[in-house]
Amino acid sequence: MKNILKPALTGILILALIICGCSSSSSPSDTAENIESEGTKEVVQRADDGRTVVGISMPDRLLERWNRDGAYLRKQFESADCEVMLKYANNLIDTQIADIREMIAGGADLLVITAVDGAALSTVLEEAASLGIKVIAYDRLIMGTDAVDYYVSFDNYMVGVLQAEYVISTLELKLTAKPRYIEFVTGDPVDNNARYFYQGAMDTLKPYLDNGKLEVPSSQTEFYETSTAQWSTDIAQQRFQIILSSYYPVGTRLDAVLCANDSTALGAARALQSDYKGKNKVIVTGQDGDIANIYNILDGVQSMTVYKHLEQESVVTVALGKDIISGNTPGEDLISKSHWDFDCSYDTQQYNNGNRVVPSYLLSPIAITSDNIEKELFETGIYKRNSSGLIYTGE
Ligand code: BGC
Repeated sequence: MKNILKPALTGILILALIICGCSSSSSPSDTAENIESEGTKEVVQRADDGRTVVGISMPDRLLERWNRDGAYLRKQFESADCEVMLKYANNLIDTQIADIREMIAGGADLLVITAVDGAALSTVLEEAASLGIKVIAYDRLIMGTDAVDYYVSFDNYMVGVLQAEYVISTLELKLTAKPRYIEFVTGDPVDNNARYFYQGAMDTLKPYLDNGKLEVPSSQTEFYETSTAQWSTDIAQQRFQIILSSYYPVGTRLDAVLCANDSTALGAARALQSDYKGKNKVIVTGQDGDIANIYNILDGVQSMTVYKHLEQESVVTVALGKDIISGNTPGEDLISKSHWDFDCSYDTQQYNNGNRVVPSYLLSPIAITSDNIEKELFETGIYKRNSSGLIYTGE
């Protein structure tokens, strides 16, 4: 079978054939094939060494979660006799594209990708698709391309709903006559998830923003003006310090900061500690359950987080990946035949990437507060205490 490749990619493939040589189990997509490059007569041999290679491209090492995701995915794919190429892109789009090209050249049969920028991968993924390589968008949807086969994530809209519901119940918005004051710290605009978190929160809070029980003294309620590039703690902290110094002089009250995730929550909490003049405890929401934020919840500095069980996300991804590699076209049947002891739903409507609705496997996030943190995170063994403090085991 002949494939048409762009010349640049062909060069990489030749290099890869020289440097790769390990083997494990075989896969249908590892069959021998000649590759003819467009515009030249050069013909090279694509890797045919019986290996099953999974390329995993993660966005960055800064956040605890991507390190955990990468480790879970690697371990499980390796236990299934796959060879794994795992790379972290340092939050740089060009690095991620180069990483993916290296994986294609290294003989990847399957790509599992958490995009740095959901809209920047179309070209490289079309190169993958032209070689029959399947793509799973992991946690973040990849936008604007047909070359994404599946999406595995949590119900991202629900994450925002859980954060907003916590604010509504803690501030007793259904009962209160007095207005309460809130500000928003949302996520990275190039991460498609950030909009879902925002929309879930805003739709849930809208009745109270409309009837005046919730006010936003900065007036910053739109997604872009509240967003945080790269989900950076420092950027969130700087923006929030400016909000506090501009809109919260002595005598003004702030009740809640709805932060989209834990890295932004850390920034908001630091700004509150340094620059908030009021004496009341301000609600701070989050998402992920990072160690620093778990300490903050136990210490009363952060009010809640939304926990997403990453091992479950990787279990679904690996089951899906194995099914794809063995030549199947998984659908809802993956869930029934897998007998997982957690909920997972199959969705073929919600996640439209602009080109197509991507079939999705979605898990359920849970809200964690000081009331249920022991039961949900410690009694389950996800976190443990030892003499040096908290450790994450994730089991
Ligand atoms: C993930 C969050 C994470 C954020 C920042 C989002 O796409 O769903 O869990 O906190 O990215 O990395």
